[in-house]
Amino acid sequence: MNKKTVKDIDLKDKKVLVRCDFNVPMDENQNITDNTRIKAALPTIKYLLEQNCKVILCSHLGRPKGEVLPEFSLKPVAKELSRLLGKDVIMANDVVGEDAKQKAENIKNGEILLLENLRFHREETDNDPEFAKRLASFGEIFVNDAFGTAHRAHASTEGVTKYLPAVSGFLIEKELKFLGDAISNPERPFMAILGGRKVSDKIGVIESLLEKVDVLLIGGAMAYTFFKAMGYEVGNSICELDKLDLAKEIMQKAKEKNVKFMLPVDTKVGKEFDPNTESKIVKYTEIPDGWEGFDIGTETIKIYAEELKKAKTIIWNGPLGLSEFEQFAVGTNSIAKTLADLDVVKIIGGGDSAAAIEKAGLADKFTHISTGGGASLEFLEGKKLPGIEALQDK
Ligand code: ADP
Ligand code: 3PG
Ligand code: MG
Repeated sequence: MNKKTVKDIDLKDKKVLVRCDFNVPMDENQNITDNTRIKAALPTIKYLLEQNCKVILCSHLGRPKGEVLPEFSLKPVAKELSRLLGKDVIMANDVVGEDAKQKAENIKNGEILLLENLRFHREETDNDPEFAKRLASFGEIFVNDAFGTAHRAHASTEGVTKYLPAVSGFLIEKELKFLGDAISNPERPFMAILGGRKVSDKIGVIESLLEKVDVLLIGGAMAYTFFKAMGYEVGNSICELDKLDLAKEIMQKAKEKNVKFMLPVDTKVGKEFDPNTESKIVKYTEIPDGWEGFDIGTETIKIYAEELKKAKTIIWNGPLGLSEFEQFAVGTNSIAKTLADLDVVKIIGGGDSAAAIEKAGLADKFTHISTGGGASLEFLEGKKLPGIEALQDK
């Protein structure tokens, strides 16, 4: 990585403002249901504590759109972080108000302060310079470790870097290493599995990957747009009728680039959008009227597994079916299990894909699971991430 990290700057005894991505899922009682992103921030926080820093953390949670809404408070995060560190985390009652200011002024070396949800101020997403300046005034050095928010040019990711020396934390370094190496220097055969809801969400990734991979395996709802483009009926399956030409172009391009482009050969269809709906497996050419395609079928699972066993590097973005419903998580889980047993580079990028792998209990079998949803997608598309671009060059 050509950006400075916490290792490239003297942090001893400094007051450090750290942007984390603590945008974690919570249930209706504000219980954190997945603490992966908090755990991912620990190496940087621990390092700063070792350097005897005054650590001031900030993050967004959800999209409160400039309103102070208690259900979007970061207090549960402070509690969880404190539990994970075995150490007190001081919580500010506001972001850049009197309470935060007081607490930031009084913080001692080796202490941690967490500011309230940055998005309680609209100025955060507006990347307002005054707001960025106020935030920056809390620290002497800025560390960005919020990989999941690196694709947003917000006050706390991009704006603050105009007022403070800005370097990356260990999480951003790690994400760029794994995602970057896989993309730019893969051991071949290099295969990508792409699923998810919409072709339109993934056009950029498909086009970028077509330049790099040897094999592209398609699953998820996206597949039905391709079937339709090939002239088959897809029943009530999710299908983007305005993307049929694009789907054809993609298939044509794959041919030109000599990329093996694989589509499911069978699919599990359901009667309606319901976890317990009646379902059956049919050939991709025989999706019955009124039924909806929710997963890849048994034959496809077999063919994809055989293909993937030949890979040396695998990138996976997007679940292969409606993985939130158990009976339609079979494709995703089966392929995840196949990959779990392979001794190759295996990388997951994408919020829902990462959640599906976590849920299947297979997270530790992968080389790297990105903490970025949109950010890892944009990275795979080859886009520059403003939160990273803004950091100091080595
Ligand atoms: P990621 O977050 O990993 O990038 P996406 O957001 O693109 O993935 O897609 C995930 C969503 O797509 C999930 O909610 C999943 O249920 C849905 N999905 C995948 N396949 C289907 C399908 N066949 N029918 C309906 N929804 C699907
Ligand atoms: C995410 O969960 O993808 C990041 O935290 C960014 O959130 P956002 O899409 O609301 O900007
Ligand atoms: Mg998603």
